[in-house]
Amino acid sequence: SHTKEQIQATLLGLIAKDGHIADTKDLSIGSKKVDQADIIGVLKSLESREIIKYETITKENLELTEEGADIADNGSYEARVFGAIPASGGISIPALKEVLGAVAQFGQGRAIKSKWIKKEGADLVRATTTIVDDSQNVLKAIRAEGTHKDDRLVKELKKQKCVSAVKSVSYKVMKGDHFTTDVKKEETDVTEEMLKSGEWKNATFKKYNFNAEGVQPRSGSLHPLMKVREEYRQIFLELGFSEMPTAKYVESSFWNFDALFQPQQHPARDAHDTFFLSDPATSDRFPKDYMERVKEVHSKGGYGSIGYGYDWKSAEAEKLLLRTHTTAVSSQMLYKLAQEYKETGVWKNVKWFSIDKVFRNESLDATHLAEFHQVEGVVAGKGLTLGDLIGTLHNFFKKLGIKKLRFKPAYNPYTEPSMEIFAWHDGLAKWVEIGNSGMFRPEMLLPMGLPDDVSVIAWGLSTERPTMIKCGIDNIRKLAGHRCDLAFLNRDPIARLDK
Ligand code: PHE
Repeated sequence: SHTKEQIQATLLGLIAKDGHIADTKDLSIGSKKVDQADIIGVLKSLESREIIKYETITKENLELTEEGADIADNGSYEARVFGAIPASGGISIPALKEVLGAVAQFGQGRAIKSKWIKKEGADLVRATTTIVDDSQNVLKAIRAEGTHKDDRLVKELKKQKCVSAVKSVSYKVMKGDHFTTDVKKEETDVTEEMLKSGEWKNATFKKYNFNAEGVQPRSGSLHPLMKVREEYRQIFLELGFSEMPTAKYVESSFWNFDALFQPQQHPARDAHDTFFLSDPATSDRFPKDYMERVKEVHSKGGYGSIGYGYDWKSAEAEKLLLRTHTTAVSSQMLYKLAQEYKETGVWKNVKWFSIDKVFRNESLDATHLAEFHQVEGVVAGKGLTLGDLIGTLHNFFKKLGIKKLRFKPAYNPYTEPSMEIFAWHDGLAKWVEIGNSGMFRPEMLLPMGLPDDVSVIAWGLSTERPTMIKCGIDNIRKLAGHRCDLAFLNRDPIARLDK
């Protein structure tokens, strides 16, 4: 192709001679046509210095396809069929096919329709002496001119794939306020040499382009789940909750299950549902006197309960696991709270939350992974009721923009009553299950040493579900795990749950 300097000199020369260039579409240097894409770069730079002005000319040109060109050169199929039939006598259909191949098949019908030929017995014969091949003539004209005035015909030819429209862009170029053919090279920097020689005084400097877009800096970004976590965290903080320490993924079965009055035969404690550790496999680092009270309430009952009546084993409680819910942290926090109360004799209401990873040995599918994030809220106070739980949940979800809630009775070993939480989702136009909640049982709270007029309301939900709904994705693997979509994770906007 041509150099910028060649193009610039040619353009300016033509304008100096003729006053303007009406259309750059046929501009050539030597015998070679100049690419319009090369011209625009030169025009822009000359325009920025007001040497020229230009306007863009957009045109739609018709071009012949391979098939269209074949018809323009050799005639339409029907004309070729006509030509292949002798002026007197006829030709059999197989013989015509032999001469013209596939063209015979396409052309026959149209030639009959145009009454150029007709059937006579088994033969095709001419029905007229001369024909005018309009298709060929039109295509020839289109090839020469690039346009045709009959829009309906053009549409038809496009449908027959004989012509296609090609957009072309070219330019009209006029003199600018500072038109000259003697364009000085623009300097981009003041150099030491220029300063020393004094050359800078006469130099022309290139203007700064303050509109140029900078290179997008490469950067990391928060994972969508972390953005959602941050939003939940803000909501809890606004409501006066403080965060529980959840940095420990490994817990003993004791805190994860036994302290929560979850019997040792419970199916969730099976290796099918829980990841147990093999090395180290056990730990007995939990308070022994409290352990005795837990053992007692499981096996014999107490605090008004008849218990489960089975042989509770410390070996089972010692098994280490990856926590299956953050309630394993809540149980330890409540135990600590009870010890503080025992020491001081002073009761203080608490509002706690946590948002962190939990692990379940589940079969993986589009909406389940072996690890996910749980949001948990815990409120302990004197005389709290189910009404407080429902009110607290309404307050909490209102902050997320969720106003319609429904509750369904459920069962958890550690809460009574228990309620599943459903929210009306406007976008999905249905009720979606969003969490689980309840009031911790006396069999859980009293062995810890909490005062018996204190009740504890709590709820839990996942961050994955609302994140998937927010991002409009139906497969969790896009969000987490080895097949996650990094580009999507990077582009995802900041968290705005349902607001
Ligand atoms: N731990 C429960 C779960 O894993 C959630 C929950 C938390 C339920 C607190 C009731 C009270 O789903």
